[in-house]
Amino acid sequence: MAGVATARAHTNIALIKYWGKRDVTLKLPYTSSISLTLGGFFTETTVRLLPAGSQSTFLLDGTPAGTRETQRVMNYIAVLQRRHGVSGPVAISSVNHVPMAAGLASSSSAFSALAASFARAYELDVDRTELSRMARLGSGSASRSVFGGFVKWNRGTDDETSVAVPLDETPRLDLVMIAVEIDTGRKAISSSQGMQAVVETSAYYETWVRETERACSLMEAAIARQDFTAIGQLAQQNALEMHALNLTARPGFTYFAPATLTVLAAVGKLREEGVECYSTMDAGPNVKVLAHRENVKEIEARLHALLPAATMTSSSCGPGVEYLPEQR
Ligand code: PMV
Repeated sequence: MAGVATARAHTNIALIKYWGKRDVTLKLPYTSSISLTLGGFFTETTVRLLPAGSQSTFLLDGTPAGTRETQRVMNYIAVLQRRHGVSGPVAISSVNHVPMAAGLASSSSAFSALAASFARAYELDVDRTELSRMARLGSGSASRSVFGGFVKWNRGTDDETSVAVPLDETPRLDLVMIAVEIDTGRKAISSSQGMQAVVETSAYYETWVRETERACSLMEAAIARQDFTAIGQLAQQNALEMHALNLTARPGFTYFAPATLTVLAAVGKLREEGVECYSTMDAGPNVKVLAHRENVKEIEARLHALLPAATMTSSSCGPGVEYLPEQR
C-alpha cells in the first residue's frame, strides 16, 4: 500500500564506541565505531502519510509521545523531507521493545526503523547505504542498526562517506550479550551532552581518537578471525577508556552507579575462575556482558546473587532493518 510502511530495526551494542561528533548537525563522528546488532531488542515503526492540512502525530508505545520526543522526531522528519524533496504531514507510531534511555541506546533501533519506514512510505528509491546515512542524521548509532551482525560505521570525511558497512551479517561466533539492567530510569546526561562535554573540555580527547581508531582496526581483524577472546578484550578496554575519558571532562562526570562496579568486579572474578566473559557500558549505569552461550546461566546466577533486583536479558546477534507487512 503506498503511503504507509512499517519497519523493524534492532538495537546494537557498540564494541568500539562512537563518543564525539565533529559535526553536530550532520552527526559526523571523530572516530569509526564497531557494533553487534542484537536480536532481542527492537523497535517497530509505522509511518503513514496524511492528507495536506492534517496535524502530524507521534505515538510512542500507543500513546502520544512527550513534547521533547515529539519535537526531536518532527525535526528529524523535516530534515529527511528537505533532503528527499518530499513534504506533508505524517502519522508516526513506534513501539519499542527496548528499555528507554537506559544505556541500551534505543535511539539506535528507533531512528533506523524510522528512516526505513519513512523511505518506504514515500516510495524513495534508496539502498541500505543511503538508509544508514538517513538513520545517522537521527542518531549516530542508528547508522549501524541498518545492518545485522557485526557492523562498522566508517567515520568518513563528509555526509556522503560517513556510513555503516556490514562486516559479517551472520557470524558463526557463539556470542551472547547479557544486558544487566541496574537502572532503567532516564539518564541525567544524554549521550549527546556527554560526548559534547568530552570533545570540548577533555585534555585527553585526542588520545581517545587515536586509541579508538587503532582499536577499530584490531577489532575488525578479531571479527574476521571470529576470535571471541580478542573481541571481548578489545570491547571491554574501549568501554573502560570511554568511561575514563568522561572523568577527564571539566567538570568530570560518570554514568557509573555503585552497582556498575559490582558487576564489573564480578565479571573479572568469573573470568579468573575460567568463565570467559567481558563487560561493556554505554551512556548509562547498566552493564552488558559478552559471553559464550554455554556460560550465560552461570553468569546470570552469579550476578543475581550479588544484585537480586537487577533484571537480566540475554540476546545473540540479530538482523538488519526489515519491513513488515501492513496490518494497521
Ligand atoms: O547514537 P547516540 O547519539 O545515542 O550515541 C550512542 C553512544 C554510545 O551508545 C555510548 C556509543 C555507541 O557507539 O553506540
